[in-house]
Amino acid sequence: MKSILITGCNRGLGLGLVRHLVKLSQSPENIFATCRDANKARELTALAKESKNVHIIEIDLSDTKRYNEIVQIVSDKVGEAGLNVLFNNAGISPRFTRLNLVKEKQLTETLFVNTVAPILLTKAFLPLLKTASNNFVDKSKMNISRSAVINMSSILGSIADNDLGGYYPYRCSKAALNAATKSMSIDLKENGILVTCLHPGWVRTDLGGSNAPMDVDTSVSNILNTLSSLSEEHTGCFVQHDGKILPWRWFTILRIGIF
Ligand SMILES: NC(=O)c1ccc[n+]([C@@H]2O[C@H](COP(=O)([O-])OP(=O)(O)OC[C@H]3O[C@@H](n4cnc5c(N)ncnc54)[C@H](OP(=O)(O)O)[C@@H]3O)[C@@H](O)[C@H]2O)c1
Repeated sequence: MKSILITGCNRGLGLGLVRHLVKLSQSPENIFATCRDANKARELTALAKESKNVHIIEIDLSDTKRYNEIVQIVSDKVGEAGLNVLFNNAGISPRFTRLNLVKEKQLTETLFVNTVAPILLTKAFLPLLKTASNNFVDKSKMNISRSAVINMSSILGSIADNDLGGYYPYRCSKAALNAATKSMSIDLKENGILVTCLHPGWVRTDLGGSNAPMDVDTSVSNILNTLSSLSEEHTGCFVQHDGKILPWRWFTILRIGIF
C-alpha cells in the first residue's frame, strides 16, 4: 500500500494506526491523518515532524462541504497514483443511551459522524480510489495494495449479538454502517475496490473506557496484520481485528466485549 487516509488520528485507535504504520519496514509513502485541531494533537504533530510521510489534514467530519477540499489536498500529493486505502475510523459513542434517556440530538449526531460521514467521504474519494485500483497491475486481485475502503464498525452494530439492549445511537449508527459497507462492496466490486467493516475488539481508549481488556497497540497490530491479508473473499464482510470473519447473523458465538 502506497497511500492511506485515516480519519480521527489525534487519539485512540486512529493515532495507534499512524504510530504503527510509520514503524513498518515498508511504511506507506503517504499517510494522511485527519484530526479536528492539529494544535491539540500533540503526539500526532510530533509524529508528522519525525516522519516525512505523515501529512496531517484538519477536518471536522460533520463539515461535509469541505470534503472536496481534502480530496484535492490528497490528490495534489499522490498525483496519478491515486489513494489506495480510505480508513473511516473516527467515531463517537454518547454515554447515556437507555431508551428513557436517549436524546434526538445524540441520535442524529451519532448517525451523522458514524454513518453519514463515512459514506459521503467514500463518495468524495471514489475517483482517487478508482485511480489507484486501475493502476494495479494484477486486475484479478483485490487487496489493500490495490484499493480498499475500511469502515471501523463495532460488534455493537450486530443485531444478532444484541442481548443487552440500550446504546441506541451507537448501535443504530454502526448497524447502518455495516449495511453501507455491504452495499459499497457490491457497488465497487467491478472497480476492484475491496470494502470491509472491522471490529477492533473492546479497546482501552476514551471511547472504549478504562475497563476494556485490550490495549491500543494489541488491537492495532492485529488490525494491520489482518488488513495485509484481506482479499476478494473478505469484501462485504465484517472482520474482527484478529482476522476472524464475523457472520452477519449468528447465535452461539462467544461475546468478545461490550464495545
Ligand atoms: N475502543 C473500542 O473499544 C472500540 C470498539 C469498537 C469500535 N470502535 C470504533 O473505533 C473507532 C475509533 O474509536 P476509538 O476507540 O479510537 O475512540 P476515541 O479514542 O474516542 O477516538 C475517536 C476519534 O474520532 C474523532 N472524531 C469524533 N468526532 C469527529 C468529528 N465530528 N470529526 C472528526 N473526527 C471526529 C475524535 O476526534 P476528537 O478528538 O477531535 O473528538 C477521535 O480522533 C470508532 O469508530 C469506534 O466506534 C472502538
